[in-house]
Amino acid sequence: MQRFPPTCGSTADSLFSSLSCSSSSGSSSSVDWRVALPRTSEQSAPRIVVDDVRKQFRLRHTHSIKETALAAVRRRPLSTEFRALDGVSFEIGEGESVALLGFNGSGKSTMLKLISGVLSPDTGRVLTRGRIAGLIEVGAGFHPDLSGRENIFLNAAILGMGKKETEARFDEIVAFSEIEKFIDTEVKHYSSGMFLRLAFSVAIHTEVDILLIDEILSVGDEPFQKKCLARIRELHAKGKTLVVVSHDLDMVSRLCERGILLRDGKVRFDGPSKEAVEVMRA
Ligand SMILES: Nc1ncnc2c1ncn2[C@@H]1O[C@H](COP(=O)(O)OP(=O)(O)OP(=O)(O)O)[C@@H](O)[C@H]1O
Ligand SMILES: [Mg+2]
Repeated sequence: MQRFPPTCGSTADSLFSSLSCSSSSGSSSSVDWRVALPRTSEQSAPRIVVDDVRKQFRLRHTHSIKETALAAVRRRPLSTEFRALDGVSFEIGEGESVALLGFNGSGKSTMLKLISGVLSPDTGRVLTRGRIAGLIEVGAGFHPDLSGRENIFLNAAILGMGKKETEARFDEIVAFSEIEKFIDTEVKHYSSGMFLRLAFSVAIHTEVDILLIDEILSVGDEPFQKKCLARIRELHAKGKTLVVVSHDLDMVSRLCERGILLRDGKVRFDGPSKEAVEVMRA
């Protein structure tokens, strides 16, 4: 599945043919999205299109042969299906900053994983245009047995950066992370905050178009969080697209203009972030 297509051209045709598609069939294709999802403005093509996405998980109720045998005898189901996302649709334009809001278990992380391509939807489609950096789970994208230095190259390569480019930015990446002292230590010995520092630093030194951030900032200490937020604002000012998940509702509503509120896997509100927070708190 091609997730990082070349930067789009200026015509509507090239804009839509350059959207990367993650669908239930798992295929990558250029489809006639102009019919299904017309663009709201001729000037700004969407960076992310989520169309009627459903994702369900199987919840196992037995964890041993004995439990399975007992459940079979008692005619109890061995597992049930749980729908984490149920018909979610939205479109995010270039340069938008969007807070994905919702209570625990409402489907926010699942949505970010679908956008980043870690998961595929069961039905519906997720289309993205441009290079994506996802800061979704602490330690994701790092190899535990490699050092911080080696992991910078690994992580940068995953984000589409070449060796020379990474070498040129290496010192800046390390300086931003402030973990110079531990850069040659295997990352399995890193604390959660150190993982965040390295992952965030690599992501912001890469030419990304879309930045996905899931709660991970909360493991950073206050000075580093402030530094991250300042850098996120800078990236937004440069026209990057942001999708941020956080339970710090005041912070996230200040950071993002738009809020999409998920409840039980469905979109309950999509509009100004401050209103989304009010709806969530009501
Ligand atoms: N791999 C999985 N297997 C089974 N269930 C899953 C899996 N991933 C997510 N879920 C379920 O899907 C639902 C949505 O999970 P998700 O992690 O997206 O919620 P969230 O909105 O990010 O919650 P939180 O605010 O606690 O981070 C939850 O009920 C969760 O248990
Ligand atoms: Mg989550």
